[in-house]
Amino acid sequence: MAIFKKKKPEADSYRTLPEHIGIIMDGNGRWAKKRLLPRTAGHTAGAKVFRTIARYCSDIGIKYLTVYAFSTENWSRPPEEVKALMKLFKDYLLEALSDFKDDSIVVNFIGDKSGFTDEMHKLMDENEELSKDRDGMVLNIAINYGSRDEIVRAVKKISAGVKNGDIDIDSIDEKMVSDNLYTAGQPDPDLVIRPSGEYRISNFLLWQSAYTEFVIMNKLWPDFTTEDLDEAIDIFNGRNRRFGGV
Ligand code: IPE
Ligand code: IPE
Ligand code: MG
Repeated sequence: MAIFKKKKPEADSYRTLPEHIGIIMDGNGRWAKKRLLPRTAGHTAGAKVFRTIARYCSDIGIKYLTVYAFSTENWSRPPEEVKALMKLFKDYLLEALSDFKDDSIVVNFIGDKSGFTDEMHKLMDENEELSKDRDGMVLNIAINYGSRDEIVRAVKKISAGVKNGDIDIDSIDEKMVSDNLYTAGQPDPDLVIRPSGEYRISNFLLWQSAYTEFVIMNKLWPDFTTEDLDEAIDIFNGRNRRFGGV
């Protein structure tokens, strides 16, 4: 893990920077409700915050950021809400293709892309293709993502290998499982932040978060700021990670 100096001169301290941060971007609906707005207004506000926080993480030197944008269970929401979310995703995909050509961020989608329209699927592939050779932060966007679904897929892939004779059953180990997840080749998250005050994981990075530090914050995602991100990193710095040791 890298050591970095806080950018703000008044906060002249050193701290350990998590290599990989995960964020469960939660609380958009409640944010809108508090303002007597439709839930979709919360998603629009949340999408803006996503752009700010992703940029900030890249600027301060985070190597991997995984944001939970849409779960495999979120399809059960009212059709108007799902439609509005798809529109916001599409806007982002188009914007990322046209506006951020010189950006250093590598955009990667984790989740089942086949659940989307062909147009959306193509836009995701184009974003990945355009950004794959960049050298900056890897931004994993978890969309139509469910960690149980991800693990089931890994089990199926490995089983198929066993069946056709490519994999010896005794060679199956933790690394092989990790290598068959969407996050293959990436470090596990050091820190997962959940705004909105909910104490649950909601099917996010179950395998990968075995030794992750969780920080729950009582802020709704559209109110989340770069200062909140700094605070979460400070809390992370106060934790004693033991990984089962002493
Ligand atoms: C997160 O905010 C966005 C998605 C799940 C797509 P929510 O929409 O879950 O907001 P709350 O939890 O209802 O406030
Ligand atoms: C988790 O939030 C999914 C995303 C933030 C994309 P949810 O709002 O769907 O989770 P629950 O229903 O509170 O567990
Ligand atoms: Mg929610």
